[in-house]
Amino acid sequence: MTAPFRGEGLETLAAIADVVYDPWIEQVPLRIYDGERLAERIKAEAADVLIVESDLVRGPVLDLPLRCIGSCRGDPNNVDVAAATAAGIPVLRAPGRNADGVAELAVALLFAANRFVVPADRRVRDGKVYSGGKIPYQRYRAWQLAGRTAGVVGLGAVGRAAAWRLEGLGMRVLSFDPYNPDATHHDDLEGMLAECDVVSVHAVVTPDTEGMIGTAQFAAMKPGAIYVNTARAKLHDTDALVAALASGHLAGAGLDHFEGENLPTDHPLCAMDNVVLTPHIGGATYDTEANHSRIIADDVARVLQGERPVNCVNPEVLNR
Ligand SMILES: NC(=O)c1ccc[n+]([C@@H]2O[C@H](COP(=O)([O-])OP(=O)(O)OC[C@H]3O[C@@H](n4cnc5c(N)ncnc54)[C@H](O)[C@@H]3O)[C@@H](O)[C@H]2O)c1
Repeated sequence: MTAPFRGEGLETLAAIADVVYDPWIEQVPLRIYDGERLAERIKAEAADVLIVESDLVRGPVLDLPLRCIGSCRGDPNNVDVAAATAAGIPVLRAPGRNADGVAELAVALLFAANRFVVPADRRVRDGKVYSGGKIPYQRYRAWQLAGRTAGVVGLGAVGRAAAWRLEGLGMRVLSFDPYNPDATHHDDLEGMLAECDVVSVHAVVTPDTEGMIGTAQFAAMKPGAIYVNTARAKLHDTDALVAALASGHLAGAGLDHFEGENLPTDHPLCAMDNVVLTPHIGGATYDTEANHSRIIADDVARVLQGERPVNCVNPEVLNR
């Protein structure tokens, strides 16, 4: 196991297998195995079950006699699933493991952007609470969230976890998702955006969703709306977002992801006080680890006991 593992799931595995536990997250400097180095390690440990989170399961790894591969992610994109399927190895995943963590960060970014938490904190630290002839009460006024309308774009695991939290804040919550029958909107994104004081994006990236929030969609949002994206930067047009913020049409934004996982310090977003930026930490909770441990361990136990795993991405190999 090179994935971080904890809680009930670790106990489940320890009861049925000899566990070699060496999680990538504790390695400093960072250690992410490529296919060759991972294959060497698996051979050295004589392992027949592999559980990973970030290491690359490719090439020679798929030539080894593995009984299953657990990828502790919703989307097991670190695994060459086609090669695993060709080799007859079941690949297990952990859907929704970080839904609550990401939804909590979405709410955190929303509160922070709406109430100027970051610049207000900076003023206190810098001793600049009173400046420019204004007291903070003059500078930092906002509409409260209770009683206003939020639109959730993408009503999957994270979107659903965000929706009930926003309802809990006293907001009216709309949702756009062509594939979830529970969404309030299935084919009229702009119609929903026109009603929204807050828009929180939680769609998966596909050819259809890439760039789905652009100039027209920002323009459709209510003046003074706050935009939150804890999903992927690819879902929006960043230049259009900057323009919507610069014109004052949007009151603020909270973002947890950037193209290339980084934002240059001279990017216009970095100069905007009404924008809150975090570096892809939505899922970074200990609960995410406990959740994926439980989900993957239960499925590994099923495989080892000859039962059908629940979250297998290549179920065709199970009937061979
Ligand atoms: N910030 C983080 O650390 C972090 C962690 C986990 C997930 N994420 C991201 O959050 C997003 C949601 O993850 P999830 O686990 O809820 O995935 P999910 O697969 O459970 O949900 C994705 C939803 O997007 C919907 N969708 C598909 N096409 C759509 C369209 N055209 N318009 C609107 N919705 C559409 C799907 O129907 C589905 O309901 C993903 O982009 C994922 O990469 C970010």
